[in-house]
Formats: sequence, C-alpha cells, structure tokens
Amino acid sequence: MNKQEAKKRIEKLRQVINHQRYLYHVLDRLDLSEAALDSLKHELKKLEDAFPDLITPDSPTQRVGSLALDKFQKVRHAVPMLSLEDVFSEEEFSDWTTRFQKLIPEAKLPELVGELKFDGLAISLTYQKGLLVQAATRGDGEVGEDVTQNIKTIESVPLRLELHGKLPKHVSLYEKEISRAITSGMVEVRGEVIITKKNFEKINVVQRKKNEKIYANPRNLAAGSIRQLDPAVTASRHLDFFAYDLVTDFGQQAHSEEHALLTAFGFKSDPKAVCLRSLDDVSVFRNRVAKERDALDYHVDGIVVQVDDNVLMQKLGVVGKAPRGAIAFKFPPEETTTRVLDIQAQVGRTGVLTPVAHLEPVSIGGVVVSRATLHNADEIERLGVKIGDTVVVGRAGDVIPDIRAVLKDLRTGKEKSFHMPTKCPVCENSVERAEGEVAYRCVNKKCPARKREGLYHFVSKKAFDIDGLGPKIIDVLLDQGLIQDAADLFELKEGDLALLERFGEKSASNLVKAIKEKKQVLFSRFLYALGILHVGEENALLVTSYITATYNLKAQKYTILELTTIIQNMPVDSLKEISGVGEKVAESIFSWFHDKHHIMFLKKLDQAGIVVVVPKVRMISSTFRDKTFVFTGELQTLTRDEAKQKVRELGGNISESVSKKTGYVIAGENPGSKLKKAQHLGVDILNEKEFLKLIT
Ligand code: IVH
Repeated sequence: MNKQEAKKRIEKLRQVINHQRYLYHVLDRLDLSEAALDSLKHELKKLEDAFPDLITPDSPTQRVGSLALDKFQKVRHAVPMLSLEDVFSEEEFSDWTTRFQKLIPEAKLPELVGELKFDGLAISLTYQKGLLVQAATRGDGEVGEDVTQNIKTIESVPLRLELHGKLPKHVSLYEKEISRAITSGMVEVRGEVIITKKNFEKINVVQRKKNEKIYANPRNLAAGSIRQLDPAVTASRHLDFFAYDLVTDFGQQAHSEEHALLTAFGFKSDPKAVCLRSLDDVSVFRNRVAKERDALDYHVDGIVVQVDDNVLMQKLGVVGKAPRGAIAFKFPPEETTTRVLDIQAQVGRTGVLTPVAHLEPVSIGGVVVSRATLHNADEIERLGVKIGDTVVVGRAGDVIPDIRAVLKDLRTGKEKSFHMPTKCPVCENSVERAEGEVAYRCVNKKCPARKREGLYHFVSKKAFDIDGLGPKIIDVLLDQGLIQDAADLFELKEGDLALLERFGEKSASNLVKAIKEKKQVLFSRFLYALGILHVGEENALLVTSYITATYNLKAQKYTILELTTIIQNMPVDSLKEISGVGEKVAESIFSWFHDKHHIMFLKKLDQAGIVVVVPKVRMISSTFRDKTFVFTGELQTLTRDEAKQKVRELGGNISESVSKKTGYVIAGENPGSKLKKAQHLGVDILNEKEFLKLIT
C-alpha cells in the first residue's frame, strides 16, 4: 500500500474505531465484537508503524480508555492509568522482547512475570489510613470516574486494609513497617472488576426475559454494572475483583512481591501468576492458560507479561500510553477482520454453485484462512458484500469460516458487486435456479467440476475414507487421465502411480494398499459416497437402516448388485415412508438409481470388487429413538463427529438446523444462532455436561 492509500485507509479506520469506542464506552453498547474491533485497531497500528508521520494525536492508538460519563464525578489519577500493547503471535511477542532488550545493557532476557489477563474493567482503589476512600475507573488514563459507592458493593474489595498473616519469605519487607504505612498513609491498588461466566449467563437470561439489552461480553456487563447510578443494581450483579498492581511504594523491588503483598492485604490476586525466564517459558505458560481457561469461572482473554524488576520497569519508561516493559499477549480471536479480494462461484458435486470469498490471508483462532463460504446468493444479498469490502470473518470449532458482517463505512467506492454467473464457470453450460430453491445449479450432469468434486466426496472421511487420498492427488490422477471415475481408483497399480511427479515407489505402494483396504465399505457410507442430491450422512443412515430392517438383511457382506436391485425395486412411495426422510430426498434417491449412467457406474464398482457390509441392527435407547439432535458451538471433551456418532449409536438422528421438531440442541462453547433459535422455539437445550450424562 502506498502512502496515499494508507492515509485514506487510516482515516476510515479511525472513524469506524472511534464510533465503535463511543458506542461501547459511553453508551455501553457494542455493534462489532471485541475481537473484530481489536483486529481493526491492530491494522491501524500496523499502518501507523509503517508510516509514523501519519500518526495524529487524536488517533485511537494514541489514547487509552474512554470519555468519562457526566453522571459521575471526575477523578484525576495521581499516577496515570496506562494501557497495554496487544500482541497475538509468538513472533510479535519475541519482537517486543528484542525491542526493549535494546534499551538495557544486559544481553539476556530479564526475569518476567506472567499472569492472567482478566477480561473486565480496570479500577483504581485508594485507601487512606487503611480505609477505602475512592474507587475510580480509568477513563482516558488521566481522568476517570468516581464509582466508589458501586465498588463498595463488591465483597472481594476490602473496605479496610489489614495485613493478613505473614508475608512470604521471598518478600524482603518488614511487616511492622507495612502495617504502620497502611494505617497512617495512602495506598493505591489497581485491578480488574470482573463478572463470573455463570453470572454473565444468568443476567442475560433475565435481561432477555425483561426484553432489555443483552450484554455482548462480560467486560461490557462489568462496565455497565459499575456505571450504575443505583448501587443496588451493581450489588445485584455480584461482581468480583482481582488486584494486579500495587502503585504505592513500600520498598518492593519486584512485581512478584506486589502479588504477595496484595494477597497479604486481603485482595484476590492472580492464582496462576508465574516467573518466566525464557521465550519457551512464556509459550508454555500461554498454552497452559489457553487450555485451562475454559475451566475458569471468569473470562480470560490472554496473558499479561511484564518485567519483574521494578527499577528496570521504571527505566524502560512509556511509549505512547503503554509501558515498554509490559505487554498483553492475547489469545487468537475467533473473529477478525480482513478484506475480500475476490468472490468466485465454486461448482460442487451436485452442480450447486457456492459463492466463496477469497480473502486476504488472516489468522482466526490460530489458523490462517484465505477462503470463507458465502453459502448462496441470498446470503450475499443479506450481507450486501462486495469485492474489495472489509469484512468480519469468524470460525467456530472445525466449521468452515464464514463472513458475519460487512464494514460498509470502510468502503472506498471502488468495491465491485458480485453476480451469480449465468454460465457454469467450469463447463460453460447454463446455470439455473429451480423454483423455490436458493441454490443455483449447473445443468450439465457431466460437468467436469461435478465429477471432480464427486470424487473428492467419494474418498472423503465420512464416505470411503481412503487414507492419503485427498483432492490434490485426485486432481493429478484426473489430469493425467489415470482415472475417469471413482471405480477406476480400485484398478490403479503401483506402476501407474510411481511415474507421477509427486510419487515415489513407497508412497505409490502405500496408496494402492490404502485403496485396497477400503474395498469393503459400510452400507451407509456407500450410499453417502455416491453423492446423491440431498443425501447427506444422516439421510444415508436413515435409508440404510430402513432397508436393513424392512428387507431383513443379515449382518454380512453383500455385492453392490444385490443391494442395487433391492433399492431399484423399492417404489418411491416406500422411500417416502422412511421416518425423517422427506419427499425431495426420496425422489432424488429413486431417480439416481434409475439413471442409466449411474447403473453403469454401479456395475463398474461391482466389477472392481467393492462389497458392502451391512452392520448388526443397533439396540436403540428410548430416550434417543426418533429424536433429532442439533449441535452448536465447540465441545471440549469430544469432537463433533464423535458426539454425533454416539447419538446415532443410541438410535438418535442428527440435523444441522433447528426446528420445532428438534429433540435437543447441544450447546458447546461459543454457540451460534442455532442456540437462539432453540430458545425462541422452546426446544430443550443441553450443555456439554448434561449431554455427556445423557449418553452415558
Ligand atoms: S497490568 C499498564 N495485569 O488489561 C497497565 N492488566 O489491555 C497495567 N488487565 O488496562 C495493567 N488483567 O485493565 C495488568 N493481570 C493484569 C491484567 C490487566 C487485565 C487489563 C487492564 C489493562 C488492560 C490493558
């Protein structure tokens, strides 16, 4: 980006960030997620780093906190309340250490302290002669708001400072002197007001019932609760407080001593704070916190790392409004912002054209992504997304990233609209949208894209699950003319493969072996692998279970021809009778098995030696019989696929969408819109623990 472009982008970013900050801090409202806003701030900071002369004093990067509200008295902080610079990757973190190490004579990394970064609201507490006399928010760092009455409702904030018990051995301070200093002078302690996850959920349930504002995150709620004119409302929110900074000088030499002192003074301080001596230590600590944070009662959005030696910390000074000797190493957000470089229609195995956004690569939840699905033309219209737009992209668990919002205020006017092509981008045949359907489809049944995608599907995990055979190898095999369809895979010989560029003898023999191993396939996997329109994993299971029961199939191997004959002889009405299988699905299966090209393909598979295994009939639990389960959010103790498998084993069905007929919605971490829909429809919702109980 040249300077002129950077200038324009910077101005727009500042406008959007400032507006969001105003909504968030002044009105306690949030239109964009914290993560998306952080991502914009990060982009702004990077641009300003590249073009420092474009930094202006009013840039959001140059200030901390927010405007003070009128309803509270203003308080000037004796020592400014600074903020922390954020980093998200190990590389950025290591850059920070290199930067500040240049300013100190010792070449080696000084001792660091790592602690939890609480996701709440920063508060400064002032005690005079041991009594809490003032509590203030950070405000803009210089001037905050007096929220003493509200803070006094928090039980974990001591109203009187006392020395509890003995100081730990490593603290080189005298207890008597400290006691005297507390009772005769002034003490300032800083920390974070937080709300527990449980209370956060509870309060939002009440808000929803009262038809009042839903809080976007615990920080928002903590801030909203502290800025209440009526302390009784604050008290009802059951807030909590963790102290992390002792501003008053008691002669302490290290930050770690402050933790010990704060605990002795009667504060809760970070239970996980540790001493870190190398970059490896930092990385281990961060990974540990990332793993354990779900089990904590409160939200933690990263770790704070700072120089332990207070003298060195002072020496390093401040850059902008952040101390050089401390940093927030945040967890990768599940949502971020990036730019749409292009939108292209991809032709799937059923001929459906799916618009896919090609993105400027960006890391979401620790994984770099460059593509996000736009689902269909209706979704593009709903979002109003154009090529060139800055968008919010998110990813939940192992789901494909999707675009959640478009930041239209960042438009330059050069963005281009996307229209679904009228001709298939692969075979150039026409594209049609059937009555009542959202999908656009290529009409050519032999479209090469369909064939390619069909092959990817045939070998995929939930179908034939052929080890080591992914889209890249399928592409090579197709492009070299080694295969025409899936049946040809089973005829491949080592010699055919060994000549190909990406194969050595060993990998050729491994692949041939892997293909051979899958010549026996489960009935439901076989039906799913055929890629019949509307026949996903669930429908394949329902249909094969029905056929097994109705035709009294034994738990044994069947040839493809034996099974196809059964299916071909089933009247379409009988397929429609299968519980959970709709009319559309039944008709689609019926016509697939009566198509002459498909019949030839089935014969070819039979000749290639594929046999189908019919499994034993399952014992079905009455809790699960005919019940449909829908999953949303991330599970912690098992993968989605394992959970689905369990449900099926017990006789339940899985669906991807919530309706009145849904039996249970299982909500993991970060649930999506399905949870809201379930709440709206009054469907039973289980959390992971309750679900585990049900399946055991
Ligand atoms: S040290 C210079 N330690 O994060 C500020 N801050 O993004 C020194 N925070 O304003 C703060 N947990 O509100 C520190 N263990 C922790 C923290 C923490 C949360 C907040 C704090 C600060 C913000 C900076």
